[in-house]
Amino acid sequence: MTHTDLRKKFIEFFTTSSRNHKEIPSAPLVPENDPTSLFTSSGMQPLINYLLGETHPLGTRLVNSQKCFRSQDIEEVGDNRHTTFFEMLGNWSLGDYFKKEQLPWNFEFLTQEIGLDPQRLYVTVFEGDKSVSKDTESIAIWKEIFIDVGIDAKVGERIFAYPAKKNWWSRSGEPENMPPNEPGGPDSEVFFDFGQDLKLHEKSPFKNQKCHPNCDCGRFLEIANSVFMQYQKQKDGTLKELPNKNVDFGGGLERMLAATLDNSDIFQTDLYSQIIETIYKVSGKSYKEEENKPPMRIIADHLKAATFMVADKVEPSNKQQGYILRRLLRRAAVKYRLLTNVSITEQDLLEIVESVLKTYENTFYFKNINHDVIKNVIGSELFRFTLSLDKGMREIQKISRADGKIAFDLYQTYGFPLEITAELFARKGQKIDIKQFEQEFKKHRELSRTATKGIFKGGLQDQSEETTRLHTATHLLQQALRTVLGDHIRQKGSHITAERLRFDFSHPHKLTANEIKKIEDLINKQIEMNLPVSMKIINLAEAIREGALTVPGVNYPEKVKVYSVGNPSTGSGQVFSKEVCGGPHVDFTAGLGKFKIIKEEAQAAGIRRIYAILQTNVPDKQNLAQKRD
Ligand code: ALA
Repeated sequence: MTHTDLRKKFIEFFTTSSRNHKEIPSAPLVPENDPTSLFTSSGMQPLINYLLGETHPLGTRLVNSQKCFRSQDIEEVGDNRHTTFFEMLGNWSLGDYFKKEQLPWNFEFLTQEIGLDPQRLYVTVFEGDKSVSKDTESIAIWKEIFIDVGIDAKVGERIFAYPAKKNWWSRSGEPENMPPNEPGGPDSEVFFDFGQDLKLHEKSPFKNQKCHPNCDCGRFLEIANSVFMQYQKQKDGTLKELPNKNVDFGGGLERMLAATLDNSDIFQTDLYSQIIETIYKVSGKSYKEEENKPPMRIIADHLKAATFMVADKVEPSNKQQGYILRRLLRRAAVKYRLLTNVSITEQDLLEIVESVLKTYENTFYFKNINHDVIKNVIGSELFRFTLSLDKGMREIQKISRADGKIAFDLYQTYGFPLEITAELFARKGQKIDIKQFEQEFKKHRELSRTATKGIFKGGLQDQSEETTRLHTATHLLQQALRTVLGDHIRQKGSHITAERLRFDFSHPHKLTANEIKKIEDLINKQIEMNLPVSMKIINLAEAIREGALTVPGVNYPEKVKVYSVGNPSTGSGQVFSKEVCGGPHVDFTAGLGKFKIIKEEAQAAGIRRIYAILQTNVPDKQNLAQKRD
């Protein structure tokens, strides 16, 4: 089976009239308006507001294939099944169906649609804890499912119950790690058994233990995860039932494909085979040699992730997403240099990037994107790095001390990210003092926020009242910019934290003090008028016809939510702003506070950036903006 077939089969299985799901496009890898997450790391992340109770324009049954990036898995890449970039096949019930539909559908898809042998499937459920009881309901459903295919599924043999560490899912893991407002719930996973005599298993540290689905040896591969998302963490630490009992299903496309091929190495599926083949072609190193496998897998994964990131407009830098991209590219270059043991140029790696683009030529991912732009961004970053790579590697060989200061010097002079230096030192059995490296880093420049704030760990979208207010203020800002400067203004980016908004837009000149004042005054006037904010769900084409603003370059579903500020039907004047947007927003503008632009600067050629805040010394409590449920 090819990756194109598998993706298609999954979407068709759920959109067919009996299951009646609506397909939603993959959201970008860089989430909008989510200050705590650098990347989209699961299919549910762009849907978080809907899982919390917002209405989705396409209804209560959704399906898609979502591109995901998990930097926290970077150390694991190199084995048969871990990658930083992957696609997650997902289906969702937003308060619609639940366990008794989800688990049989999941099993039907795996066994009948993609032909996996039921004998090779093992399942897990949540064993319960002090606040949520054991998932006996799922156990009973699984038993029935297996009986139907002639398998007597016993607990401890075919069905396994595990604690929260394994069978509870939220973006931050177990209940005790969930911050207030975070949704989560028990889950039920399906594992594919690649068989006891798998070589990998023989070599694993678990070979003398009884192996089980959650054993890490590689014999069992998790291919499906149904999360029963029905709880929300409260400020007092307890779990409360959400208004809706949701299903959040995720299955890795790469892993499911490997199971259909009965080959536990996901790098031998057609999601990687051309890329591995190209690495062989340019390096002369064969994937058949065991020792070449880990570096070849790392190079393939990192260059694939980098290609997807650049397509989503990330550029290498020393901050946030750009810093992760830089690390991926440099780590791929170092691994490639070590693999070939000869000097390298960016051209070698660009051929591999081409093979990534080729791998996805039948998908929509790179359809409307200029491939040369992607290659130029990656090429110029790698050109600079590979120029001094040989020299940097020689310096590392000479060093006899594992010292944070030396690691920092290598970073400064040769651009070696810390973990690369750490890996190369580790070959000599040395461990770098990371604290010392960070102190050095801090002394010289603002330490990348990514490294300090644990933002790598997948982060959480902020649902606070502050960000909701700033989100509505961003809509007012876009319209005010258009009124004052002209209709050429379009959103080029937006990033909101609880403290401020940041808005990028197309405009050729610096704004004058007079223009800034006019914009602020216009926005504050709308706030004072206490305009209502209303939402309706209509077809995208209709929304565009009505003049609702969209964000250029974003892929929208066929039905969308349109938020309007100021609504003639309520007698509160003209509509001031109208945008296609997922929400949430405040209900009325009066409680927003006083809008103030604190900085205006160039972001790129023809793109300006505004930082603005809301000063909220709102005396009248009743006027406080309400979050829309
Ligand atoms: N959100 C679940 C996961 O990422 C499905 O595994």
